Amino acid sequence: MANLRESWWIRDVEVPTRVVLAPMAGVSVQAFRRQGRRFGAGLVCSEMVSCAGIEHRNERTLDYLRVASDEHPLAIQIFGADPGVMAEAARMVEAAGADVVDMNFGCPVRKVTKTGAGAHLMEEPELACRVVEAVASAVTVPVTVKMRRGVENGARTCLSLGPRLVEAGAAALTLHPRSAKQMYTGVADHELTAELVSLVGVPVIASGDVTSRTKALAVLEQTGAAAVMVARAAQGNPWGLREILEGGGFRPTREEVAAELIVFIRETVRELGEQRATGFLKKFYGWYLGHGRFPKPFKQELVQLKTTDEVVTRLYAAAPGAAEIVARLEAELPPPEEDVVLDRLPISIYGGG
Ligand SMILES: Cc1cc2nc3c(=O)[nH]c(=O)nc-3n(C[C@H](O)[C@H](O)[C@H](O)COP(=O)(O)O)c2cc1C
Repeated sequence: MANLRESWWIRDVEVPTRVVLAPMAGVSVQAFRRQGRRFGAGLVCSEMVSCAGIEHRNERTLDYLRVASDEHPLAIQIFGADPGVMAEAARMVEAAGADVVDMNFGCPVRKVTKTGAGAHLMEEPELACRVVEAVASAVTVPVTVKMRRGVENGARTCLSLGPRLVEAGAAALTLHPRSAKQMYTGVADHELTAELVSLVGVPVIASGDVTSRTKALAVLEQTGAAAVMVARAAQGNPWGLREILEGGGFRPTREEVAAELIVFIRETVRELGEQRATGFLKKFYGWYLGHGRFPKPFKQELVQLKTTDEVVTRLYAAAPGAAEIVARLEAELPPPEEDVVLDRLPISIYGGG
């Protein structure tokens, strides 16, 4: 049986566990990434940042990426289709402290694919290889690629493209074995992951439908992948990461849930500002308070509150014991003025992978 607590390497970067927290546009803010590290993810990823920001400063964006000292090892994901622009973005991302530069070749959202980026690159193998070569030679940190199986349903493009990307300089590959057309329907076909593992000499990270410890161990066993990546199962649920790593059926108390959510809210307000954070955070209330942790009407109540301060007050009223946990968690956070801000590479508003 695979040991999820074992470390592994992406070239010269040591990843302390075999569980990777996925990049998710509109989700993987700094608070999400550092919480993921605290709960045992060996590697965390930023949501995708747009190389278009280098050339068009006026693009409407969600926000800029902030990197904190307690996130490492951290992969910053970039997307774009121009080798020169991607190389420049990679240099900036490395300067901001990325331990790994990840390239998004999997995003199925039309706004991204119509620019030639994301999953579209899987249909342009020559260009895809040139992008990887340009990025790999621009930085000293390892570069990686996250792919889908291909664009069309049933595609096996990842198996022909993967080895070529490795030859072009990719130090690891992540595979989400659904087609771009499938979006998130159907199931991730990890037989393809196993085939990819057998074809390349670099670590492969298996992404898709890893929701439990049993599933994580089964995917590692079936595929020989170096690690599993967890996306949706970690939304509002850092305990899911711990459960995957350790098992034991641990269930957080209401105080713990409220405390994690309060810290998450405060950090996100600091990152995005009150106005953006208010809307952004609403989906997290359902994610945190679900799983039978709080009664349903409580979530409805929080979603309707106008400011995040009111949400925090309401959470303390529902779980007074959370205050002690919040104080402990906040005391451990490094000072925000030490953050590095990547303000020339905006976070994509498009989402998806
Ligand atoms: C809301 C959301 C946003 C996502 N954004 C990205 C992204 O920016 N980059 C990326 O490579 N994948 C992205 N993905 C894909 C995930 O990283 C992952 O590959 C996929 O969700 C399958 O894993 P899961 O079954 O654990 O959710 C996103 C997925 C979701 C649900």
